[in-house]
Amino acid sequence: MEGLEKSFDGELAVDGVTFGVERGKILTLLGPSGCGKTTTLRCIAGLEAPTAGTVRIDGDVVTSVTRRRSVPAERRNIGMVFQSYAVWPHMTVSQNLGLPLEVRGIPLAERRKRIGEAPELVGLAGLENRYANRLSGGQQQRVALARALIYNPRLLLFDEPLSNLDAKLRERMRLEIRKLQREVGISSVYVTHDQAEAMIISDRIIVMNHGRIEQEGDARTLYTRRRARSSPRFWEWRIFFRGWFRIPTLFPEGRLSRAPRLARMHSCTPTWRLAAAHPAATSICRSVSRMWSSTPAAHATR
Ligand SMILES: Nc1ncnc2c1ncn2[C@@H]1O[C@H](COP(=O)(O)OP(=O)(O)OP(=O)(O)O)[C@@H](O)[C@H]1O
Ligand SMILES: [Mg+2]
Repeated sequence: MEGLEKSFDGELAVDGVTFGVERGKILTLLGPSGCGKTTTLRCIAGLEAPTAGTVRIDGDVVTSVTRRRSVPAERRNIGMVFQSYAVWPHMTVSQNLGLPLEVRGIPLAERRKRIGEAPELVGLAGLENRYANRLSGGQQQRVALARALIYNPRLLLFDEPLSNLDAKLRERMRLEIRKLQREVGISSVYVTHDQAEAMIISDRIIVMNHGRIEQEGDARTLYTRRRARSSPRFWEWRIFFRGWFRIPTLFPEGRLSRAPRLARMHSCTPTWRLAAAHPAATSICRSVSRMWSSTPAAHATR
């Protein structure tokens, strides 16, 4: 995406955003409400017409304002998962999965094969014939996820897909989405305003503010880089990989003593020692320590 701009009634919602997603990786757009994340995603999907800029997928120009080119959304071959699960309530899980394949004219035998495989992939095995309105929120979101994956899109877009779920399930689903994305290897753009989520899920993070890119990098770089101090409200908590406190002003002496206890509570390894006494850090620490012990990729980077 190059120089993407989108204005509504003369106000810029996205202001000259340029980024690329590495093949097979997850890039997260992180930022406060109203900073232009959803608008950016909708421009990629072809659901919104930008006022300037170019969007390319696999080298194909799908949107170019100067060339007046815009490939319709349904021909971009993009999978989308949104906050509202948007599954069809009066269809079974299998029927929900079958419809996008039918719309795309996939032959019956291939449809059956994929419908047979998909539930297992997202942890819905055994629920194939259950009506979607009789599933829990987490299960419905899994249907939405499977439905986005089933036609092998060349790009996956997630817009705050977990924000309707309770805290515990959200933590679990984060890890599952990340694991699944690695398995299927589909390049993805993930939108969230939750720092913990961004850190767990992403290969790379772009921090947006007022429609612009404020910072970008991998989670480790963003969290250790001093520049993060430029937005202290947003980055008010930190984990430091070697267990050091580096910003004493953010962590008054009195609260330092809580860190080792919290770290023990969530069984962090010494290198992942919790360095912040903020509630968000507790949640990250728990997720990270779980991820640490469950994914081979995490071990590889240790
Ligand atoms: N259809 C629209 N008409 C007018 N203004 C819009 C429209 N859609 C978005 N905006 C405005 O554009 C800006 C960016 O909105 P956007 O939905 O992209 O934010 P966001 O980062 O996704 O926020 P949130 O985290 O709350 O979902 C906001 O100021 C919003 O009011
Ligand atoms: Mg949004």
